[in-house]
Amino acid sequence: MEKLLKKIDYKNIPSHVAIIMDGNGRWAEKRGKLRDFGYQQAMVSVRDSLNACKELGIPYITLYVFSSENWKRPKKEINKLMNLFHSHLHKYLKEIHENNIKILTIGDVSKFSKEIQENLHFFIKKTKNNTSGTLILALSYGAREEILRATQKVAKKIYKGLFTLGDINHSFFQNHLYTKNLPDVDLIIRTSGEQRISNFLLWQSAYAELYFTNVLWPDFRKKDFFKAIINYQKRNRRFGNVK
Ligand code: IPE
Ligand code: IPE
Ligand code: MG
Repeated sequence: MEKLLKKIDYKNIPSHVAIIMDGNGRWAEKRGKLRDFGYQQAMVSVRDSLNACKELGIPYITLYVFSSENWKRPKKEINKLMNLFHSHLHKYLKEIHENNIKILTIGDVSKFSKEIQENLHFFIKKTKNNTSGTLILALSYGAREEILRATQKVAKKIYKGLFTLGDINHSFFQNHLYTKNLPDVDLIIRTSGEQRISNFLLWQSAYAELYFTNVLWPDFRKKDFFKAIINYQKRNRRFGNVK
């Protein structure tokens, strides 16, 4: 770990890291357990990642917890996942608050149970002045839905005559996304070996660096997070320009 830390350039820390926490089901299946055993282990990796962000001074981290497409999964699996949220969310969010981290959500949270929504609202409010970093939880999140929703909001304002077509520029549109006021994503990490985006932050990651690792999410530790950052720091980010 010491060796890894020495390789980190503290002058080139990403502002916003987003993680596709994939491979929980496969991790459990490899151990001859039911898929939800993997979800139970996922919090250990979340904790490690949050600690890593704190140590490096990364101000924003977004975690893909549940996608808009994940509702397609068998009812039994969804129920297990919702029960897990229901019974552990308060404890986990409390722990995050105790670490002085601000909690936000993106996605259609109204699809979750009343209790889950209440817990989320409680901690969003409670943590709003926390200063050690911001954790954004993507819940029932889909980037296409987010972009459509923003388009509808913008269209409505134009239709009402509040704005004209000429008012629609990048920042105006961005202000209608779930992520308004959040910086663009610098780095997307996806665990489990899959190399795809799965409808995650399509607008916000236009110039993000992508990092894929075969490590399954429940095995992802602080050292794996540091490795991703070291890899990111080797990239030459040109943003279409020449360097
Ligand atoms: C990702 O893990 C977490 C959720 C979608 C809730 P998976 O459940 O997709 O695990 P794998 O990819 O099947 O192993
Ligand atoms: C992406 O993983 C969603 C989350 C990690 C929450 P999936 O397992 O749902 O993605 P696909 O289906 O393999 O693309
Ligand atoms: Mg998966």
